Amino acid sequence: MEIISGFSKLPKKQKLVWLASQVADNQEEFIDEFESYLHREAKIQKLYDEFSENTLTNFYMPYGLVPNVLINNKLYAVPLVIEESSVVAAAAGSAKFWLERGGFKSEVISTKKIGQVHFLWEGDFKKLDVLFDELREILLDNTALITANMRARGGGILDIELVNMTHIDSDYYQIKASFETCESMGANFINTCLEEFARSLKDWMANSEHFIGKEKEPLVVMSILSNYTPECLVKAWVECPIADLGYFEDMPPEMFAYKFSKALMIAKNDPHRATTHNKGIFNGIDAVTLATGNDFRAIEACGHTYACRNGKYQSLTDCSIENGIFKFWIEIPIAVGTVGGLTTLHPLVRKSFDILDNPSASELMQIMAVIGLAQNFGAVKSLITTGIQRGHMKMHLLNILNHFEATEGEIKHAVEHFKTNVVSFRAVRDLLDKMRVKVSE
Ligand code: MEV
Repeated sequence: MEIISGFSKLPKKQKLVWLASQVADNQEEFIDEFESYLHREAKIQKLYDEFSENTLTNFYMPYGLVPNVLINNKLYAVPLVIEESSVVAAAAGSAKFWLERGGFKSEVISTKKIGQVHFLWEGDFKKLDVLFDELREILLDNTALITANMRARGGGILDIELVNMTHIDSDYYQIKASFETCESMGANFINTCLEEFARSLKDWMANSEHFIGKEKEPLVVMSILSNYTPECLVKAWVECPIADLGYFEDMPPEMFAYKFSKALMIAKNDPHRATTHNKGIFNGIDAVTLATGNDFRAIEACGHTYACRNGKYQSLTDCSIENGIFKFWIEIPIAVGTVGGLTTLHPLVRKSFDILDNPSASELMQIMAVIGLAQNFGAVKSLITTGIQRGHMKMHLLNILNHFEATEGEIKHAVEHFKTNVVSFRAVRDLLDKMRVKVSE
């Protein structure tokens, strides 16, 4: 591979030509394949191209649907974008299961977001602390234009505080602010406010008669929102009498509830299991996040930090068995938007919102939490009953069959065969070879 300068300035075709010259044996075929995934409408392709930089083509992901999701007595069909097999099937299975038992319940506990200006300052903290009310007013005044629209929608800056961080580093302080960003995820809004706070802090200190010498010169290290939003919190749950859980194949409901609660106990206490358990939850949440054009990295990062809030990494779901009632719930911070960014621009994201009946950001938080819970219920149910491989392997089998370009007839035969045989890449290839030899004889 050669070094190239000015790559970003090249037209898309030239980018592809350069890449092909570096990696492809058949350059024409290589370029054709990349171009075959471009959108047929130039206007839409331009949109996709401009979401990111140095774009060459589009990368397809399956867009699936989980129907029958009853949340607070409202029925949803929830779109999921995910490449992993079994995730949609597991969520759909759980949705149907709980539909017959009253559905999911959910509530938003709070919707506060956080941003920080991290700065170094050599001065007397007590003096700054006393004067901070004056600075707070200045920060609010100087951001009044930036926040006007958000305030008109019922949001804006909720609070601004000074945090003494000198126990971490001798001159380190923060301006920590909380925000209500209504229907938007709010990253741009928060960061714009914070950068204005930083400018105002420097001006104020430089010009205030209360400060002398070094005190007039704070060093702003950075101004940025925090993706950890423990007060942008949603809860979702399901519950029913244990007997109503029914039999799982030949496992009685009491044993199911017992093993389920033990699986949760393990995920609460063992970080190795908790990580996999929470990964399963994010299989669902990330997939709705992608389908609705939100930022799954932010939501995941936040979820994992929240999972550590008690000093060790723990499961994000919990379960109880009390007075014969099985209850299973999730409590998780989820910061999302339904306006702005990709949510307004991506054609399929707009369709996702239509499918979801154009939810508010709070409603979307609840839908995501429910799909995370449904996904986790499906995973733990499989783990404590049949084992995870049965469902996985069914889908895996279809992927392998597709890989070998199996015909309808071959697929039918293979699905039957692998009901009683262990699926592996080799076993599928051998079976297909045998079938194909027979046909050619
Ligand atoms: C696989 O993507 C997710 C699971 O491993 C989750 C879990 O173990 O709970 C099935």
